[in-house]
Amino acid sequence: MAGTWKVHLSSIVLIVLLFLSGISAGQKQILTYVSEFGFLALLTILLIIASPIMYKLKPGKFTAFVLANRRWIGIYSFVFAFIHIVIVFNFLFSWDITAAMSNTYRLLGGIAFLILAALTATSNNTSVRKLGRNWKRLHYFVYPALILIVIHSTGIGEVFMNEAVIKTIIILVTAVLIIWKLYLYKKRRSTQKNIQQQNAQTQT
Ligand code: HEM
Repeated sequence: MAGTWKVHLSSIVLIVLLFLSGISAGQKQILTYVSEFGFLALLTILLIIASPIMYKLKPGKFTAFVLANRRWIGIYSFVFAFIHIVIVFNFLFSWDITAAMSNTYRLLGGIAFLILAALTATSNNTSVRKLGRNWKRLHYFVYPALILIVIHSTGIGEVFMNEAVIKTIIILVTAVLIIWKLYLYKKRRSTQKNIQQQNAQTQT
């Protein structure tokens, strides 16, 4: 795919930069890493979900690039979420998974993570071929995952999602994306129904 290397390069550069940025954070180093990688995962999920709308509203080089490279951007958002939870499990809970999952907000994050893992594992051409129509159905689960992540991060976020402005923007963008998707789904269903009715009429 054209320009996929740019996704790899910018993701790796971002990971390195975030780790470097935490070095000077002193006592807050772990919290900084947890917040930054969690927030980056959330932003990239929003970006891939928004990419078709962005392209529709403003077709151009950047929006076409994001749309064409959604699969890899999605895989990297799983990588960011993976780094986020590895740091949480290791530094905050010493790999005591039961303790880590004892809080409802963290549990919701855990469920979202499992959904993202399933989506990442099936983000390849073989899965698209094997799963057929079910592939699309499975990948609609990115929406419940997004809702769980927003609840998770608004509930326990201590850095970015503790800021009223950021919280409001994230919730608004999430709401717009979900309403837009439901609108498209309803529109497609009613078009399909009309075609079926027309076909039935022409056959009688
Ligand atoms: C798809 C999976 C996940 C994503 C995308 C995600 C994302 C986020 C985001 C955006 C924040 C708020 C950061 C901030 O503004 O400060 C956050 C906070 C947090 N998350 Fe997650 N999370 C996920 C899963 C988990 C899991 C499974 C755990 C642990 C069991 C966890 C533990 C935490 C903790 C302890 C915080 C609070 C610390 C902080 O504010 O950074 N997360 N997460």
